[in-house]
Amino acid sequence: MDINELPFKHAFIGGAKMNKFKNGFIFGTATAAYQVEGAFNEGGRTSSIWDTFSKTKGKVFMGDTGDIACDHYHRFKSDVEILKAIGVNSYRFSISWSRIFPSKDEYNPEGMKFYKDLINELKEKNITPAITLYHWDLPQWAEDLGGWENRDCAYWFQDYCTKVFEELGQDVSLWITHNEPFCASLVGNYMGVHAPGNKDLKSALMVSHHLLLSHGLVVRAFRKFKFVNGKIGVTLNLTPVYAASNSEEDILATKINDGFSNRWFLDPVLKGSYPKDMILFYEGIVGKLEYIVPGDLEIISTEMDFLGVNYYSRSKVEYSADSELKFQGIDGGEEKTAMGWEICPNSLYELLIRIQEEYTKLPLYITENGAAFNDKVTEDKKIHDIDRINYIKVHLQAIQKFIEGGGNLKGYYLWSFMDNFEWSYGYSKRFGMVYVNYETQERIIKDSAIWYKNVIKTGSLDN
Ligand code: BGC
Repeated sequence: MDINELPFKHAFIGGAKMNKFKNGFIFGTATAAYQVEGAFNEGGRTSSIWDTFSKTKGKVFMGDTGDIACDHYHRFKSDVEILKAIGVNSYRFSISWSRIFPSKDEYNPEGMKFYKDLINELKEKNITPAITLYHWDLPQWAEDLGGWENRDCAYWFQDYCTKVFEELGQDVSLWITHNEPFCASLVGNYMGVHAPGNKDLKSALMVSHHLLLSHGLVVRAFRKFKFVNGKIGVTLNLTPVYAASNSEEDILATKINDGFSNRWFLDPVLKGSYPKDMILFYEGIVGKLEYIVPGDLEIISTEMDFLGVNYYSRSKVEYSADSELKFQGIDGGEEKTAMGWEICPNSLYELLIRIQEEYTKLPLYITENGAAFNDKVTEDKKIHDIDRINYIKVHLQAIQKFIEGGGNLKGYYLWSFMDNFEWSYGYSKRFGMVYVNYETQERIIKDSAIWYKNVIKTGSLDN
């Protein structure tokens, strides 16, 4: 297939000269527990806030839940076979906290066994496990005790992670404390479209602070183990924001949106302070953020080993007097994925440069990047997802260009290994390079997986 001949508007401009990734670059793929595992009530697991949320009427498209999802819990061996066939170097997955601690102080070895078995299977096939400790599925018992609004939750998280390090630490070299604290706090507690479904800025900001605090506590807990090869970091979803015009108002709106989505997380973790303009702005809306107490920012900014970046799209905004946060998104006119997200590989390049210049020289990983499209299964059971191939290709080109300019980026995790429960969209959006038939649980390798396999094998994007 020659994707260069297709008339895509979003080709990466100013591509890299280098046409091969060097040996040692990690090509991986990712999933998350609630999105793929299923087995919601097996092996001693109790509910998480996502079980509760998805079972609340009207919260998830078509009332879909993660009860069965991709049944990865039972099918992990054959799924690892597929990972092996694709040839990925690493598999990023998350741990379901309520499998490990079904209630507050009750450790469940059976829950841990699932992850031990999965890790063994991966290691046998020479695939490096990369673990996310929190991908949004707070145990319901913790939510019932106040959830992330309760500062103690950061310490419950520390206890859970410490147990995970004790049990799995020798076998896993890449650890991610949190996946996208922006979504876990603001999307779930301010916008209300993710669990637990609240719509309150004050509590969402409190949640964000306690998530970040727990990140720092867990990095410190991890260091105590002195794992020789273990590396730990956090994954932030970062969305470059562009102004609709050069007007002062639109530029202000852009700064606020950037503060809201990006700086509120980057600054505390990498600079040890919250952005002053955002503190003033938020305090003007919700009053004093009195739960940020002396010493917290030192903990939050405890040195990590890498920064994980999830990148999907950019946003373009204008000033909006009517909105609480004074900005609103506008259509930037670029081609979009099935999520309605603009395809902008140049913004990924700009983002990486910005991180390196303004924030850190730590190694970076793209811990998620990928796209949903309306995949069609042909009669002979093929999925010609050329749009997805092109999406991945132009983003990998942006990454190549960054590396070529001296950027320290060590790996790329394609989202996602297989189609899965796409949060409030249920099963209606497909991000996988492997198709899942939810009726039969059959997996079908999409063309994008075949293409990715060749990229991994050759290091080259031209195949
Ligand atoms: C999340 C994934 C999600 C993906 C696509 C990221 O925000 O980490 O869980 O499926 O984006 O929406």
